[in-house]
Amino acid sequence: MMNSFGHIFRVTTWGESHGPALGATVDGVPPGVALDEAMIQHWLDRRKPGQNKYTTQRREPDAVRILSGVYEGETTGTPVQLMIENTDQRSKDYGDIAEKFRPGHADITYWQKYGIRDPRGGGRSSARETAARVAAGGIAREALKMLVPGIEVRGYMTRMGEHEIDRSRFDWDEIERNPFWVPDAEAAATWADYLDGLRKAGSSVGAVIEVVVRGAPAGLGAPIYAKLDTDLAAAMMSINAVKGVEIGEGMNAACLTGEANADEIYMGNDGKPVFSSNHAGGILGGISTGQDIVCRFAVKPTSSILTPRKTITKTGEPAEIVTKGRHDPCVGIRAVPVGEAMAACVILDHLMLHRAQVGDGPRGKIG
Ligand SMILES: Cc1cc2nc3c(=O)[nH]c(=O)nc-3n(C[C@H](O)[C@H](O)[C@H](O)COP(=O)(O)O)c2cc1C
Repeated sequence: MMNSFGHIFRVTTWGESHGPALGATVDGVPPGVALDEAMIQHWLDRRKPGQNKYTTQRREPDAVRILSGVYEGETTGTPVQLMIENTDQRSKDYGDIAEKFRPGHADITYWQKYGIRDPRGGGRSSARETAARVAAGGIAREALKMLVPGIEVRGYMTRMGEHEIDRSRFDWDEIERNPFWVPDAEAAATWADYLDGLRKAGSSVGAVIEVVVRGAPAGLGAPIYAKLDTDLAAAMMSINAVKGVEIGEGMNAACLTGEANADEIYMGNDGKPVFSSNHAGGILGGISTGQDIVCRFAVKPTSSILTPRKTITKTGEPAEIVTKGRHDPCVGIRAVPVGEAMAACVILDHLMLHRAQVGDGPRGKIG
């Protein structure tokens, strides 16, 4: 139960790490969106494992198939069923996890709740599930492209463990040039050595990812129970290993005065309001302002590590566990495309909600 998200653009994911396949059922897709497998594959390739030594060495092509909802290259408005086959399962890697609970992982809570679980690769708690979200996000991106030309959804890492980017060196083009999706070339070089050391030691580290939506119209979001920030935060928090989410200034807003935090408003030359800053992260009262929507989330260090950790067995005996198998030393890297996909789904969902209630464009005129 509870495997779906979204109000109108509604995504249900299904499947486990070591089952035959996983995927997403995407309902509420607007009709007439140009869509084929290659368009979705483009985004899946960014998340796919085994692309470099800094991600899990599981080698999955993550080839997506569209089983329904598309006719002659366009969506029909009926549910789009997406399927990705699992091809590189190695269940023997996970024998230990079947009997013992990994500290920091979902093994113990799944067992306590359901009394049965698929331990192979973490089953449903494996980040294999995020492939389905990225595929659904690919559809959301194509629909957004049709409905809001020029809108962009981009993610990048801002922190890996003790290392943070230097925002004075921020370069959008650099994001695609390094394996960490980091907008700072110097940081990318430092992080490479840092993560290599941790990887060789069988350890892991956490990260912070920022996702920016540029070009979203003003007016998306509903004031109380479907605030745009509420839904964005829920979407990001639903990603495996996420432990914190911020919008705009986030936790740091608590350190500011009212003067420092208020984004002053001016009238722009094109008759649209202009803000002097963006502490709000592009959302006021749960509704988008038309500025960049800025969302940030923290992922914890991968819990499957080679350092022995104390735990218990299913029968309650004290034990030690060393997690072998193939794991991401920093899940933040592959979480970047996942965060982007979740943001794309939420923005499309809110665009459709807005059009359902208000129609096209903001209603209130200024000037
Ligand atoms: C992209 C991505 C890759 C991940 N890779 C691994 C991994 O290789 N090994 C692991 O133990 N956890 C990995 N995780 C984290 C687990 O899936 C997650 O910690 C687990 O489901 C428990 O949920 P929680 O951390 O949200 O409490 C990954 C998470 C993401 C987002």
